[in-house]
Amino acid sequence: RRRVRIPHLQQLKERGENWPMLTSYDMYTARIFDQAGIPVLLVGDSAANNVYGYESSLPVTVDELLPLVRAVTGAAEHALVVADLPFGSYQGSPEQALATATRFMKEGRAHAVKLEGGRRYAAQVEALVSAGIPVMGHIGFTPQSEHGLGGYRVQGRGDQAAELLADAQALQEAGAFAVVLEMVPAEAAKHVTAELRIPTVGIGAGPDTDGQVLVWTDMAGMNTGRTARFVKRYADLGGVLADAAGRFADEVRGGSFPAAEHSFN
Ligand code: KIV
Ligand code: NA
Repeated sequence: RRRVRIPHLQQLKERGENWPMLTSYDMYTARIFDQAGIPVLLVGDSAANNVYGYESSLPVTVDELLPLVRAVTGAAEHALVVADLPFGSYQGSPEQALATATRFMKEGRAHAVKLEGGRRYAAQVEALVSAGIPVMGHIGFTPQSEHGLGGYRVQGRGDQAAELLADAQALQEAGAFAVVLEMVPAEAAKHVTAELRIPTVGIGAGPDTDGQVLVWTDMAGMNTGRTARFVKRYADLGGVLADAAGRFADEVRGGSFPAAEHSFN
């Protein structure tokens, strides 16, 4: 298998084939997901919650995300690796966005970047695309605007559906190669997907987007707390790890680890 590139994602849309995307923040998950055939890996700013333990994505910085991006790009042989631009690193101006995205491409060796917002940030998207940096958009519920949006709420209901489509179209016209739709009604996501030439990637957006993305720690059950309605748990990795750590601890305390085969004469 060769490296996944943007035209491949476009071809999948044209053939009507759905494709998966997962977040990844480190070498092991990047390698495992890459070998499992996940074509697109996102080093999301959700690393704020899932690596650094922050209460939201807002505090995470470029300097905190860059090493994670570098780890993922170093380990993924086939997947297209998208780096999230964190809050405060692109909203100021197209120049600021270009400076930040350049760091992710150069130092992080990312293949593309993602930023949140529609029409308001079309100028940023255009500046990056002109510089040869592929951009994935992200509209609907945008976690970096959590406080402005009044919390985790479904976006694009009723009259807002036209706004959602206008944002998606503005991103496409600005040159984005794909658009994430987060927490929008399934009908609205279906309509946007049908209207766009570029692929849509849903999270809490129903079954009719071109791609589907989940945060890996949610998908694999690392996160043992309450999760959003749109999350499906495909494994109980948190339980597996807790059990492994517990048995290790028991064997150390009981004196059965290390055994002769783990020791040198
Ligand atoms: O940071 C993230 O994990 C994301 C996905 C949920 C799309 O932006
Ligand atoms: Na994100």
